[in-house]
Formats: sequence, C-alpha cells, structure tokens
Amino acid sequence: MLELSDIEEWRSFASDQRAKGLVVGFVPTMGALHAGHASLFRAAKEHSDVVVASLFVNPRQFDRRDDLEKYPRTPERDLALALECGVDCVVSPSLTDMWPDYPAPTPTTVSVGELGERFEGAGRPGHFDGVASVVAKLFTITGPCRSFFGEKDFQQLAVIRQIVRDLAFAVEVVGCPIVRDDDGLALSSRNVTLSLAGRRRALGLSHALTAAAKVARPASIQRAVMHEVLENEGVEVAYAEVVDPLTLLPSSDAESGPRRALVAGFVDGVRLLDNGPVSIVGS
Ligand code: PAF
Repeated sequence: MLELSDIEEWRSFASDQRAKGLVVGFVPTMGALHAGHASLFRAAKEHSDVVVASLFVNPRQFDRRDDLEKYPRTPERDLALALECGVDCVVSPSLTDMWPDYPAPTPTTVSVGELGERFEGAGRPGHFDGVASVVAKLFTITGPCRSFFGEKDFQQLAVIRQIVRDLAFAVEVVGCPIVRDDDGLALSSRNVTLSLAGRRRALGLSHALTAAAKVARPASIQRAVMHEVLENEGVEVAYAEVVDPLTLLPSSDAESGPRRALVAGFVDGVRLLDNGPVSIVGS
C-alpha cells in the first residue's frame, strides 16, 4: 500500500491510474477508522479498480475547539485497517497543505445554502460549509473518480451530491448502507468516547427509528413516537424528523409514502446521529 502526504504526488498517482484506463475509487475519511469505513473500502474495492483513501481531520467542520481536540486519532490502526481492506493508496495531507492560512479562516468557502443549515447544520453552525469545502478540495486533487460515503451521515451525503451537481465534479457519489453493532448501534468514530452506561442509552437512537418504522402513520405521529423513545431512553434530543430522502425537507401530515427518519441527540455530552427508512400515511 502506497502512503502519501504530498498533494501533488496524490494528484499524479490518481491521474496515472486513469491514464492506464483504471477507475479510481476514493474514500474520504477523518481517520479513527472502524468497520463502517471498512465497508466503504470494500465497496470501493468491488466497484472500482484502484482505491485511494484520505485520512484528514478537517478542523473547518468542527464548530467547537474541544470537540476537535477530543476527536479520536488512531493513525497506526487506520493504516493497518486500510491495508487489510486492500486500499491501494492512503493519503494523509498536512493541515497547511489543505488549509494554507490555518488557523486564520480560509477565504474560499463552498456552501450549499439552506440544505446545510437544517438539522446538523442548525446544531453545528458552519459544519457543512467545512464539509463541502474540504470535500470539494479532496475531489479537486483526486480528479475524476467514484467516491464512497456512508448513509449514516445522511445529510452529509445529500450535501456532497449537491456540490457534485452544482460544481460539475466528475465524481460518481455512491452511498453505502449504515453498519451497526449487533445491538443496533450505528458505528461512529465517536462511540469510543461513550461510557458503558452512555453506550446503553445511545441505543435510544436506533430504538426510536425501529419504533417509527413499525408504524405507518402521519409524519407528526412518527416524530412524536421517536421523541418519546429517545427521551425515555435518556437521550437529550437534538432533533427527530421525517424528511423527503432527496430534498431533506420535513414531511407534512398530508403526505404519504417512503421517507427518511433522521434522529440526533446527546449522550454523555457526545453528539450522535442515526437515520433509517420509514413509511408515512397522510391524515
Ligand atoms: O464523514 C467524514 O468522515 C467527513 O465528514 C469527511 C467526508 C471525510 C469530510 O471531512
């Protein structure tokens, strides 16, 4: 497995692969890799010829300094997992290569407007500007590719599809299913920061989604069901919504059909999120 940190070497590596007629699969990550990332690497391996993974903790997508400092960093384990999953090239760019003015703000920002201001964007101002800006830069360096993202960050996936559409990146975005522990907890790099009791309470998120998926009722009833489960299980609710899976606009009680339920909340001060398919029946 090739390990690179230089942006120009990374750009040339990807372009050399395309020159050989190979499809580049690209998996952007912030490290602290787990089985969810492994599933992205395996999907990339299956659906492209050569897999590039990036490891970069992007400070621009953190709205709180303490959250950035607490974010787990496990570089040696990350390289071992990437190797085990057959990744061909791991790129770990430096902070100053990615954001030359850091810690001063970077003047150029990619922003998706309203889509990035709801849900995670409302709770973490500037978060999606940070995600959209870094992903735009990662795509610019990697060049034409097929890029793999987890559905666990459902709004992030919508934001990335939007920048690809609006800025005409030659990138095919592939959404991959959420990977869960046996008890249903969606895998997240943040789970390691939970206490044992907190981890049990965190199951409230997947339980809320399961409860909503069981009832085909108007959207407001499904919202209420999710709130009740989250609160009963000790999750401090950030939001519990039923949305259109493409626009992420909240569903009204007049609507019927397949939708996406999004939940987020705090456990042990850690922000957790999850989502799943639901079906609503208009009243
Ligand atoms: O999902 C992540 O790990 C990050 O948000 C991403 C897409 C790598 C951008 O920093």
